Formats: sequence, structure tokens, C-alpha cells
Amino acid sequence: MSLSETDLRAAIAREMPGVRADLENLVRIPGIAFEGFDHTQVERSATAVAELLRGCGLETEIVRHGGQPAVIGRKVAPAGAPTVLLYAHHDVQPTGDVALWTSDPFEPVERDGRLYGRGAADDKAGVMAHVAALRAFGDRLPVGVVVFVEGEEEYGSDSLNDIIEAHTEKLRSDVIVIADSGNWDIGQPALTTSLRGIVNLFAEVRVLKNAVHSGMFGGPIPDALMTLARLLTTLHDEDGDVAVDGLVGREGASVDYPEDRFREEGGVVEGVKLLGHGTITDRIWTKPAISVLGIDAPRTFEAANALQPAAKAKISVRLAPGDDPTSAYAAVRAHLEKFVPWGAQVEVTLEAGGSPCVIDATGPAYDAARAAFASAWDGTAPVDMGVGGSIPFIATFQELFPDAAILVTGVEDPYSGAHGPDESLHLGEFERVCLAEALLLKNVAEALTN
Ligand code: BES
Ligand code: MN
Repeated sequence: MSLSETDLRAAIAREMPGVRADLENLVRIPGIAFEGFDHTQVERSATAVAELLRGCGLETEIVRHGGQPAVIGRKVAPAGAPTVLLYAHHDVQPTGDVALWTSDPFEPVERDGRLYGRGAADDKAGVMAHVAALRAFGDRLPVGVVVFVEGEEEYGSDSLNDIIEAHTEKLRSDVIVIADSGNWDIGQPALTTSLRGIVNLFAEVRVLKNAVHSGMFGGPIPDALMTLARLLTTLHDEDGDVAVDGLVGREGASVDYPEDRFREEGGVVEGVKLLGHGTITDRIWTKPAISVLGIDAPRTFEAANALQPAAKAKISVRLAPGDDPTSAYAAVRAHLEKFVPWGAQVEVTLEAGGSPCVIDATGPAYDAARAAFASAWDGTAPVDMGVGGSIPFIATFQELFPDAAILVTGVEDPYSGAHGPDESLHLGEFERVCLAEALLLKNVAEALTN
């Protein structure tokens, strides 16, 4: 006999304390895949995830291809039943300045119904949502599962294609659940149906062979920081729209995101204007964005009276669905080479790129998911939403398994603060996410079993 919705509700309620405790243990592991961080911590977090999957009765292995370790756990499908791939990532973003956190990023603490810590939402709660659903079914899982937990998503998933290529047959599935996005609001679930792509690049300008006295040479000779600043301002027009030719962008996102809510959620300082044209959702979902993430330059307190010879910026370009990272990089590079002022040299190099994606969210798996979400949120149906962030490998899965339905879910809400200080998880919503995933597996089994 298969478990009923009532059984699954009770099972999730029963499992939540253990799920919470295991989530806290994962948050205590500072597994950051970025260069220069202690990668033994990423190993520890892979081992911890493998242990959790083994505990769910999955056959588990840790795999790698030159990069950080991913975990694959599998349980074969009952006869005639579909196989569902459950994706999340166990690596996390660096903390940034720890002084900006209210409490230790790697010591989870609850405040006002939220669990604070780096990775508490993105994406260790995604890992635990999969574990929660598996625990709720125990040995009565009605589908086959492949759990795939990546170890370097936040660092650009460099070795992911090789891992996927080496393990394609193990990953083959009918439905793919990617628990690495979020919901529209607290109390309002969503399915994510479009994501932007990304091109991160460096632009380094050079004007001098060496630093020279700013009094003896300042005036006729441009310094590298002024030169770089001028160059960066050419990336947008006066209204703040992206001014690079050759990037894809369109208007027409259908969800209303009131400007005051957007300002509030983003923490925009009073008086600051928003850039560009179109609705807010057009601007974050279906248009490109260009931001400057960092500049290598002398720090002000130690800057000498000298003209700087060179300066380097890290520039992040978010790509609208329909764009392509190769052509977008070429477009931005050509722009920077064309507009560099004062005859300065500019060297443009690519850090990493990833494709945008759009999902045609129609068919039985999507119906199964929508029904599961509506039940888990006590009758509130999910909205389809885009997100401005990127999960580049979704496009890889789309190419590899064109017939698989891809459900992009997740635990984040507008106040999760992913990538920033005081990242947190709404614990009430987290329980709904866990329940929704269990119901989703049940509904998918019912809809797709032959
Ligand atoms: N979970 C995010 C993706 C995301 C962002 C989903 C915003 C929903 C809303 C993911 O972990 C992430 O941050 N991805 C990186 C990708 C990059 C490293 C290639 C991103 O968007 O910066
Ligand atoms: Mn993530």
C-alpha cells in the first residue's frame, strides 16, 4: 500500500526535528569551493552528505573530476515507476566580512523563526529537503531516485560537465527536481521557470609602466583608476540601461513585483534611483544586467601620492533567457576594447560563463508538482516565476535529457539573504518545502507509473 497524503504529513512532522538537527550539522561545516579556502572542509561536507543519503537506504558514492567532490545516491525504481533526480549543492559562498554577521556564520542559531548561518538556505536546506522527503517514505518510496549533490556550484561548476559525462547513465531520469531556487514570498509557493545566464570577466587597464609621482606627472598623464572608472561608466546609458550592443533582452515578464517591495527586499538606500526601463521583473528576469563586483586598487589609507599604472575590475554580466555566454562575452569584450578611453591598453579575460534557461512547465510532472505545492501550502497554488540568478547546468541537463521534466524548486524566500551576511532559512516555510517534495514524489509516481 502506498502512503497517503495524511501519512506523509504525519511523517514529515515526525522527521522535522531530526532534519533540523542534521541541517545544523551541515551548516557547521564551512565547505567553500573557492580558490584559497580549505578544501578539506568541502570533503567533510561531501562525506556528511553521503552519510545522510546512506542513512536513507541509498547506494552512495563520492565522485569528482578534478574539482570538488559531488555525491551521488541511488535507489532503483519499483517496476514501472519513474526515476526522479534530486539535485542540490553542498558547497556554500564565502562569508564576506564576518563582522557584518549578527552571529557566527558557521554556528547555526534560530531567531524569530529563522535559522541563521551560511548555507542554512543556499543550499544545505535544499539537500535536507531531499533527505526529509526520503525519510518520510522510509522503505516505501514509490519512485526510483538519484540524488545528486554537487560540491562546487557556487564556484562555477567547472568540473560538473565532466562528472555528468562520466556518470550519465546513473543520472538518467524522467523528472529532475532542482532544489536551489526559492518561493515568491512567505506563504506563496512558486515554480521557477526561467533563470538568467552569467558571464563573469576581468578588465584590466594599463597606462604606465610603473607608478610615478602624482605631482610630477599628474595632469597630462591619466591614472589607471580614472581610466578604469571612465571605461566602466560606458557599460550603461544615462538611464541605466545596459549599453552593450549584442546582448539579448526583452520585456514581458508577467508577475507584478511592486517597486517598493523590491526596494525593501533589496535594502536600497533612500533616494537611490533604480536603473533602466521596464517592469522590475523584466529588469531582473528577462533583461541583461551588468555590475562591477570588485576592483584591484590600492586601499585608501595606504595609497601613496602616485599615479597607478594599472587597475583591474571584475565585471558580472547576467544574461537574459535566449542569450548565449560565448556571444555575450564577445560582445562585452568588443565593447570594452572599443570604449577604453585615452588610448589606454585594456586586457579582457573570461572568468566563467553559464547559460540561461527557460522551462516549458507543462505536462503531467508539472501538474503533479503544482498539486503538491498547493497541498503543502494549504490551498495556495504556486506561481511561475523567473529568477535573476543562475544555475548554468540546468541547460546541460536540458540537452542531455530532453524528455525529462525539470522542476526548479527551493527553500529561499525574499528574506533569505543568500550570498550576503546573516543568510537565513524560514523554518515554517522549510517544513512546507519538505512536505511539498514528499507529495511531489507521490504525485509523480501516480502520474507516471506504467
Ligand atoms: N541558488 C543560486 C541560484 C539562484 C539565485 C536561484 C537567485 C534563485 C535566485 C545559486 O547557488 C547561485 O548563486 N548560483 C550562482 C551561479 C554562478 C556561480 C555560476 C549565481 O547565480 O551567482
Ligand atoms: Mn544555490
